[in-house]
Amino acid sequence: MTAIATTLCRRVWDSRGHPTVEVEVTLENGALGRGIAPAGASRGTREAVDLRDGGDRLQGKDVQGALAAVRSRIAPAILGMDATDQQAVDAAILALDPSPLKDSLGGNATVATSMAVLHAGAAVQGKPLWRYIADLYGTTPSIPLPEIQIFGGGAHAGRRVDVQDFMVMVPGATDFSEALEVTNEIYFAAGDIMARKGRLAGVADEGGWWPAFDSNEETLETLITAIELAGEKPGERVVISLDIAASEFGKGGLYRLALEDRELESNALIEMLGGWLDAYPIAAIEDPLGEDDADGMAEFTRQFGNRVQIIGDDYLVTNARLVREAAQEKACNAVLVKVNQVGTITEAVDTFRAADEAGYGAIVSARSGETEDVTISHLATGLGCGQLKVGSFTRSERMAKWNECLRIAEASGSGVFVGGGPLAATWWGA
Ligand code: PGA
Ligand code: ZN
Repeated sequence: MTAIATTLCRRVWDSRGHPTVEVEVTLENGALGRGIAPAGASRGTREAVDLRDGGDRLQGKDVQGALAAVRSRIAPAILGMDATDQQAVDAAILALDPSPLKDSLGGNATVATSMAVLHAGAAVQGKPLWRYIADLYGTTPSIPLPEIQIFGGGAHAGRRVDVQDFMVMVPGATDFSEALEVTNEIYFAAGDIMARKGRLAGVADEGGWWPAFDSNEETLETLITAIELAGEKPGERVVISLDIAASEFGKGGLYRLALEDRELESNALIEMLGGWLDAYPIAAIEDPLGEDDADGMAEFTRQFGNRVQIIGDDYLVTNARLVREAAQEKACNAVLVKVNQVGTITEAVDTFRAADEAGYGAIVSARSGETEDVTISHLATGLGCGQLKVGSFTRSERMAKWNECLRIAEASGSGVFVGGGPLAATWWGA
């Protein structure tokens, strides 16, 4: 009954209008699961590659090669396998392409299939996906604290400002719904400020306001003003979170701030960011140094790891081995979990476990190219990782994830919202 009977795939389109891979798995009893691959723009060099066709059509981004890999290689390998044995199915997929970057099958082919199998397993057991995940991995579900973008920058906004994400979290909210309500007020307050300054210029890739500012600091100041205009005191219920995405503007320990036309060495960047941590209520900071700057990341963590969450995204690329190595080097204290960075659900859960063992936090995250797929809302809840990063508070590929969390919270009898709990206290209780 739980055996995989058919695997279908098709080309669908993501939030940037680019082609992506959708896979549908049907089991012998008719249960169906579907997964759609997301796509990053500020990608780590060590993450699984999306197989793209190249050439002149569709900006070289078509996925016929990845679809062919699903049809001719993955589908025959997983036919007849038990869909509720996620580990075995993912192992069968990995056996077809053991390369570290999955450049033979394509990470877009493997992730869509792996997610489709997960959904089919939940469907055949008649469970909501978050509950199925918790049962499968023996975790305690909880509704995550949302991390929501107000201004988008970096590679998602033509590098208008260097920093990629200016976000808020509301750890002082009593539940998920309240966290969204507070964020809504901040988001639109930020829009009002920009309109008044004559600086309103649409939104960036993940729906945050386009950062028509003169510096990273001006963006931060505007975010503070927006939080205050929304009736909140920055640093009380609401805290700031940044994704520096430093690999996008730095290599070999040298960082170039485009807007200010300034080059900084690792130590100078650390000092600049440390100044921001002193001046603003920042509770979390992602990729403060580049993916190749291990010394810088360890130094940043030594200086600030006791007072702020330091998240490795491009730096750790959802890779369990890299998380274990970082823990030894005392670099970062949290990992961003993006399933398509590593390629399968099983590997993403391995990374979550490696983080847990190292005492690192874990934040399940979307990509800048997304779709209506809401698997990550269930993954964050089912694993009980505590945090979810999805982008901003507009555009349906983002709102679909937040709205799904509202449904899950209702169905689970509100779950355990970690926002006001001890996790939050350790972030900004410095
Ligand atoms: P990406 O960005 O999906 O474009 O890689 C998201 C992030 O850096 O967190
Ligand atoms: Zn990032």
